[in-house]
Amino acid sequence: MINNILTGDRPTGNLHLGHYVGSLKRRVELQNNSNYDNLLIMIADAQALTDNADNPKKVRDNVLEVMLDYLSIGLDPKKVTFFIQSGVSALPELTMYYMNLVSLSRLLRNPTVKSEIKLRGFDDGNKGIPVGFANYPISQAADITAFKANIVPVGDDQLPMVEQTREIVKSFNNTYEDVLIMPNAVLPENELCYRLPGIDGNAKMSKSLGNCIYLKDTTEEVKSKVFKMYTDPTHIKIDDPGHVEGNMVFTYLDVFCNDKHFEKYLPEYKNLDELKNHYQRGGLGDSKIKKFLFEVIEELLTPFRERRKYYEERITEVIGFLENGTKKANEIANITLIDVKKAMKINYFDNDDFLNEQVNKYNN
Ligand code: TRP
Repeated sequence: MINNILTGDRPTGNLHLGHYVGSLKRRVELQNNSNYDNLLIMIADAQALTDNADNPKKVRDNVLEVMLDYLSIGLDPKKVTFFIQSGVSALPELTMYYMNLVSLSRLLRNPTVKSEIKLRGFDDGNKGIPVGFANYPISQAADITAFKANIVPVGDDQLPMVEQTREIVKSFNNTYEDVLIMPNAVLPENELCYRLPGIDGNAKMSKSLGNCIYLKDTTEEVKSKVFKMYTDPTHIKIDDPGHVEGNMVFTYLDVFCNDKHFEKYLPEYKNLDELKNHYQRGGLGDSKIKKFLFEVIEELLTPFRERRKYYEERITEVIGFLENGTKKANEIANITLIDVKKAMKINYFDNDDFLNEQVNKYNN
């Protein structure tokens, strides 16, 4: 059996720590520690346009930003096929055929689509929901199945897309022939990583809320963001007992720090439990825990910044990775398209079957 891993991101802005713990980190682990035939990472520009139709420049400008974010975290162009969605024409073709297998109500029941419709204001009566937007889960099914991906490492907000894909695979294989591969989502091991909250305590780190720490942020930006973080509004004086639940510094420490960080940056404490206990008892100030979190995040981001700079200085090469990757992606997706069209009996000129059938029909 072939083993293909596929995932991707919309190029609408730089990737941040939420993306990192939610999905990017897993990709690097898969790259380095698993067996696969192809590891494909797609920059989903066509999907980005489904809710940015009027902003093509934003999408275009973010293609290389996202690519540099990928390279900065250690995704290796020798191991990964990076490609651009709009460069693979088999994808919209497959989408068109899969559309026949999904009802409109099923599409609009997708919880991620539902919340995005609200967020984008598509439900406010004037705008309306663009058909292409409502349809993007089907297009995502095309992305996944075109590459015969059995493994799809994503954040938990993408589970409804993988579920929709699984339904399409089942329906396609039952209706036509058994040609599509059933994909499985791979989520982060640690549930705390499913959805990293913003630095302001908002449930989600998101560009539009301006509460992100970006992978490319400078030391100064990280410092200022960490020191602005939402902690515990009832912890006013150092001696006041503090709360760790809902306190963003502790939420982030839960996700990012380990005992080695304590040894290195805060040796008075052995581990996070000791630090939490002290904070809860009172007598531990916010600036100390913020300084520690800052060190922990800096340790993570410093090598990212170095690799990013390396690739920024070789941007022609980086564009070459994408161009070659897109060629390879076309080769793989075109094979699936041939199988799909054959299964749907619309492969008229692949061989002489159609010719012979029709000649028999009309000439006898
Ligand atoms: N929907 C994903 C996002 O919002 C991007 C994406 C498009 C994707 N096609 C995909 C992810 C296929 C995984 C598999 O970022």
